[in-house]
Amino acid sequence: MKRFFIKTFGCQMNVNDSEKMAGMLKDLGYEKAESPEEADVIIVNTCSVRAKPDNKAYSFIGNLKKLKKEKPSTIIAIAGCVPQKEKEHLLRFEHVDLIFGTFNFVKLPELLEKAKEGRTTEILEEKIPEEDHLPLIDSYLENPYVAYVTVQRGCNRFCTYCIVPFTRGRERSVKPELVLEEIKRLAERGVKEVHLLGQNVDFYRYKNTDLADLLYMVAEIKGIERIRFTTSHPAGFTEKIARAMKEIEKVCPYVHLPPQSGSNRILKLMNRGYTREEYIQKVEMLREYVPDVALSGDFIVGFPGETVKDFEETLSLVERCTYDQAFVFEYSPRPLTKAYQMEDNVPKEEKNRRLQILQELIKKQAEKKNLKRLNKVEEVLVEGKSQWGDKLTGRTRDNKVVNFTGNENLIGKIVKVKITKTTPFFLEGQHHEGDKNENRN
Ligand code: SAH
Ligand code: SF4
Ligand code: F3S
Repeated sequence: MKRFFIKTFGCQMNVNDSEKMAGMLKDLGYEKAESPEEADVIIVNTCSVRAKPDNKAYSFIGNLKKLKKEKPSTIIAIAGCVPQKEKEHLLRFEHVDLIFGTFNFVKLPELLEKAKEGRTTEILEEKIPEEDHLPLIDSYLENPYVAYVTVQRGCNRFCTYCIVPFTRGRERSVKPELVLEEIKRLAERGVKEVHLLGQNVDFYRYKNTDLADLLYMVAEIKGIERIRFTTSHPAGFTEKIARAMKEIEKVCPYVHLPPQSGSNRILKLMNRGYTREEYIQKVEMLREYVPDVALSGDFIVGFPGETVKDFEETLSLVERCTYDQAFVFEYSPRPLTKAYQMEDNVPKEEKNRRLQILQELIKKQAEKKNLKRLNKVEEVLVEGKSQWGDKLTGRTRDNKVVNFTGNENLIGKIVKVKITKTTPFFLEGQHHEGDKNENRN
């Protein structure tokens, strides 16, 4: 029995690429290994969006040296965003057999064969031409009920701090027919919830089909009960999308709409393409259509030149918009980007201070929002057993994690759960039997 082990860093897009690579390996007869030591093929799918994941990937790769020495037949491969921009740095790892990038991961079977013959490096620099869109590959599903579906790759926006346009190339949307075919196949395998992925998924466009049109099409697929999409770019989020969210029951009321900053001066330096006022307007428009929508965001603190006043503008944007959840990052200079030329002049301690303050504010907002759920009955897609204790775990329609007591035969079903406790980060509850017919399968 041949086995594979994939270690994934980075965004959902990378997770989905890993699931596809695992799918290809499964088709080749490989089984999943529980640890790198047990594996015949190890793939490290890397991320370079900030120094932290980048460093983590490097140290993970470094640590495989011993394993390779003890078991030289193991094939060690590096994939993803790091080789795409700095393959030279990776070549110094002599224990690595295969290096490839984000454009050619679909060639994994062929690349593996080559790597068995000798060290192989293949990084494609150009975007894949339109007709070369990725073939349909069935993902290996960690969670049999919830699946990612990448509908758009790359990014054209060149925010000044961001490496993604350099590691993923130009924006291109996957043909709707292919998206629908992939989701149909997932539904046949028992998947109930799909997440449509794109770096700026609301800019999805294939000929005349935009994201809203795609949502209506996906909603027609039998077996799919819930549809989510991420990430939405504030400049791309249209009224048509908000209307589709309101009209399509299956589309969940959750939007990840990262503002990054609340200061117009910083937004301009970041090249985000919208003002704080425009962002707030978008959120208000969205809430007019979907009043109960859960809002999530990303923020960068300590961008070059960010003053205390700029940061306070971010705090006031957060006060104004109120979030259910958000990720706050300290600015991390990335080579190749425009901001790399700017002086990284907010001291580390100050970045961290701002991060703490912002996280605390968002935590309070989330806590308040979650508290409103107490004693309410929520619809939960049960994903499996919770990591802690003997509870089940799942998510509400608006993407909140619920750990609750209930019978294991509920796994994979959409059930009602009565919320008995709330925290800023998750909810707790009990299976609410109620009218049995209420529970959809
Ligand atoms: N396409 C998405 C985000 C992709 S990257 C968007 O435009 O919203 C995910 C998040 O990483 C970003 O939203 C940003 O908050 C953060 N990020 C990207 N580059 C960064 C950098 N150089 N330093 C700190 N955070 C960064
Ligand atoms: Fe990066 Fe900006 Fe593109 Fe998002 S929109 S991936 S932050 S360049
Ligand atoms: Fe990281 Fe690449 Fe995603 S840099 S965030 S894995 S697109």
